[in-house]
Amino acid sequence: MLGKNDDGQRFLTKDTGELGSLHILPAAHRPTFLVTKEHRRFAEFADTVRAHRYIGVCWGPAGIGKTRSARQYTGADEWAEFQKALITGSDHGPVPDRILQARAAFYTPTVAATMRQLDQDLPRLSQQISYAIDYAEHRLVDPFINAKSYNSRRTELLIIDEADRLKTPGLEQVRDYYDRHDLGLVLIGMPGIEKRLARYPQLYSRIGFAHEYRPLTPDELTAVLTRRWHDDGLTRDDEDDFTRSVAIATVTRITGGNFRLVDRLLTQIRRIRDINHLDTITTEIVEAAREALLIGT
Ligand SMILES: Nc1ncnc2c1ncn2[C@@H]1O[C@H](COP(=O)(O)OP(=O)(O)OP(=O)(O)O)[C@@H](O)[C@H]1O
Ligand SMILES: [Mg+2]
Repeated sequence: MLGKNDDGQRFLTKDTGELGSLHILPAAHRPTFLVTKEHRRFAEFADTVRAHRYIGVCWGPAGIGKTRSARQYTGADEWAEFQKALITGSDHGPVPDRILQARAAFYTPTVAATMRQLDQDLPRLSQQISYAIDYAEHRLVDPFINAKSYNSRRTELLIIDEADRLKTPGLEQVRDYYDRHDLGLVLIGMPGIEKRLARYPQLYSRIGFAHEYRPLTPDELTAVLTRRWHDDGLTRDDEDDFTRSVAIATVTRITGGNFRLVDRLLTQIRRIRDINHLDTITTEIVEAAREALLIGT
């Protein structure tokens, strides 16, 4: 389909299908992204895979922040907004900076991803990113008019989230796509994916980097909590430092530095605090919040 920029210039892009697949959460429900040490490690890993055009594998337990990190790195949220504007014909503005910097495509296969879907989705996604980069540089992207964008292959990295969902043929297809293109590939999955991949010698031999995504350290968790509690108005400035430290230590113990657990626990803490009209957070409130959650021991 065609989009237009402010000057009325054409922007050629392919139709991405229904809007529902764009995966855009309303901003209000998306907590602010915090640049943690783990995110910086991930970004450095992705940069390296991209620079060397290797395959990299990243794994870590559920809820630790792998997807958020990868989306942040690739600018997936800005990209989705940009695509949405293109599809709906509203003003899409300039190509998001993150896309131009990362030159990376972010892809999540569906649970029942078929070979056909992968066969269509991977080239389409990479091509859209390539077109966007060309568009930002040359203002007009049309292989028939603009020779520079002919055979446009500007995407340098493909990140596949939930890579555990790919069965043997899917992995084989991803490897084939990687072989045919000059890009790096990052596979993100749960712990154990690195061992599973070892069963596929051809894919495994192409893996240049392995990256374990780790939980927040206690120091970082303290910083995250202080920030979130402050943003949410959960704490008072004149609050007793000791009470706060003990409450933070309790959250650290309960969540083990797992981001999703921290978020869920904070939601419960807020609820309990509101119901009881309390204006400070104590370790008792944290423990009560914990009881309202299903947390594996
Ligand atoms: N850097 C961050 N800044 C703010 N919130 C974060 C950050 N990382 C993770 N979160 C929060 O933690 C939640 C879980 O993160 P995410 O979905 O990235 O985990 P995951 O490791 O991909 O888990 P899964 O393996 O289940 O897919 C997010 O919904 C988000 O609210
Ligand atoms: Mg995830």
